Amino acid sequence: MNDSLSDTFKAGAQQAASHAPRAGLRPQTNACRMAVDLSGLWMLRLGDGNWQGGVPDGAPVGVPGSWNDQLPGARDEFGPAWYERRFEAPPLAGREAALRFGSVCYAAQAWLNGRWIGGHEGGHLPFALPCTGALTEGENVLVVRVDGRLGRDRVPPGLVPPGQRHPRTFHPDVPYDFFPYAGIHRRVELVITPRDGIRDLRLDTVHNGDGAVLSVMADAGDGGIRLSLDGEPIGSSHPVESSGLWSPASPRLHLLEVDLHRGGMLADRYSLRCGIRTIEVGDDGLLLNGAPVRLRGFGRHEDFPVLGRGASPAVAARDLHLMRQAGANSFRTAHYPCDEETLDLADQLGLMVIAETPAVALYFGDEDRERRQELSRALLAEMIARDRNRACVISWSVANEPRTNHPLAAAAMRDLCATARALDGSRPASYATDLPDEPGVEAADIIFLNSYPGWYRDPGRLDTAESALGDTLDRVYERYRKPIVLTEFGADAMPGTHADPPAMWTEEYQAELIERLLRVAGERDFVVGTHIWAFADFATAQADHRPQSLNFKGVFTRDRQPKLAARRLRDLWQASR
Ligand code: GCU
Repeated sequence: MNDSLSDTFKAGAQQAASHAPRAGLRPQTNACRMAVDLSGLWMLRLGDGNWQGGVPDGAPVGVPGSWNDQLPGARDEFGPAWYERRFEAPPLAGREAALRFGSVCYAAQAWLNGRWIGGHEGGHLPFALPCTGALTEGENVLVVRVDGRLGRDRVPPGLVPPGQRHPRTFHPDVPYDFFPYAGIHRRVELVITPRDGIRDLRLDTVHNGDGAVLSVMADAGDGGIRLSLDGEPIGSSHPVESSGLWSPASPRLHLLEVDLHRGGMLADRYSLRCGIRTIEVGDDGLLLNGAPVRLRGFGRHEDFPVLGRGASPAVAARDLHLMRQAGANSFRTAHYPCDEETLDLADQLGLMVIAETPAVALYFGDEDRERRQELSRALLAEMIARDRNRACVISWSVANEPRTNHPLAAAAMRDLCATARALDGSRPASYATDLPDEPGVEAADIIFLNSYPGWYRDPGRLDTAESALGDTLDRVYERYRKPIVLTEFGADAMPGTHADPPAMWTEEYQAELIERLLRVAGERDFVVGTHIWAFADFATAQADHRPQSLNFKGVFTRDRQPKLAARRLRDLWQASR
């Protein structure tokens, strides 16, 4: 590892220790702030060099986007690779500048006009690099070195020793079931903000009779804070009637405006479109605004042809509209935090979200275990800092399918659940597990269970799948006495493949299995949610069980056309609304 990269990693570890996320408030443009979107064509050169001042002989690629499917021959390239983007900056006029990256997979280091401005480790989460001193008013040259290589010291880990991961072997060597796309995956923005302005905002909501009380805390420089909601001045604690609350049936959003005044002048302003609601786990299960709610939906990857893991509001919009059309009311951001615009859509369309960290397929072998744990904690803290003011986000998933059949695993999972609760006690914390009998699961507020009867377990047996799932659910509930969300179940279906009677890999088998398992779950009040795996087919690394390097468990194809199961769901879910 070269020196500056290990510095990036040290910085990541320090950040983990202090739980001090550094993305700041999401950028916006208004009377006091400015955000310049640097999306578009950037130059990219695969390979390593000393190109901090500018990247020679790069090839143009689209940002946001993974490089793997844009450049011919780059599919299995994971870096290091160097990006360059030239841009003109407006005058700062005494304000501060930062470059904010929505997501870089996996690690980034950046230089502006040849000056080091910082780095970040971990994908799917934003980071802002202050650059006031390095920015010039004329042309600026931004260079970003991106390292997407797999490693045991990373989260999620790669190159995991056999015996400590799932027995299936993939190329590239990942312990998880999706392609490890690399690149600048979300928007990069030049962010200009006032000095000593509004640094952070924190909203909290508690029940109050039929309605709720919203409290707003602003972290800001000297001066007076003035708050307004939908144009009316409010105090830092404000009652909201039940008709003003957010829910899937009525995804009401309010406009919160925060003004900072100093010396009689407006010093900074920040506005937030926000839903107001409460969520809790009670004796009656999962309660939204005090009333029981059941989650119906999917696990969703960010994956699309050519874009790879690059964010696209158009794809996100189609996905969330299709979910609503099917009658879903929720989804899980498997297996990493999703793009912020997707959460905007979820807030607007009334979809409840289980937000998951990038800690998929954690393992607990000695080498680098502490480091993986620190990073898992840091990435969880970054996700909570980014998403905690979202009405749509109703729960934190601190990991997916950790290999908890290791003596040290339980403590690690307890630690992550406790970290989530310490940072945000207003939402249930859990992790999705396929090993519900392993210690650690009891630390979850609500059980997230991944289970594949009729597929991995007793393949081809539609006839026994229902009783198998019923037995598992009853046993898990008996043990923990906590509500269960079935966070994964389903079957691969090759689009256009049919069989009567239904057989594995056909659309009929998938639709039939999903219908049967939904019925079993629906018969049990303690099952407060069912998320089908998956919303759409998605790219994986190569493996003998992944034809065309795709996971075909999507209810929609990779280009978002319905399989038979999508139509079946519409009938089932629309009827149960
Ligand atoms: C797992 C896992 C998913 C995976 C799925 C499958 O349990 O959480 O990431 O894609 O099963 O094998 O289809």
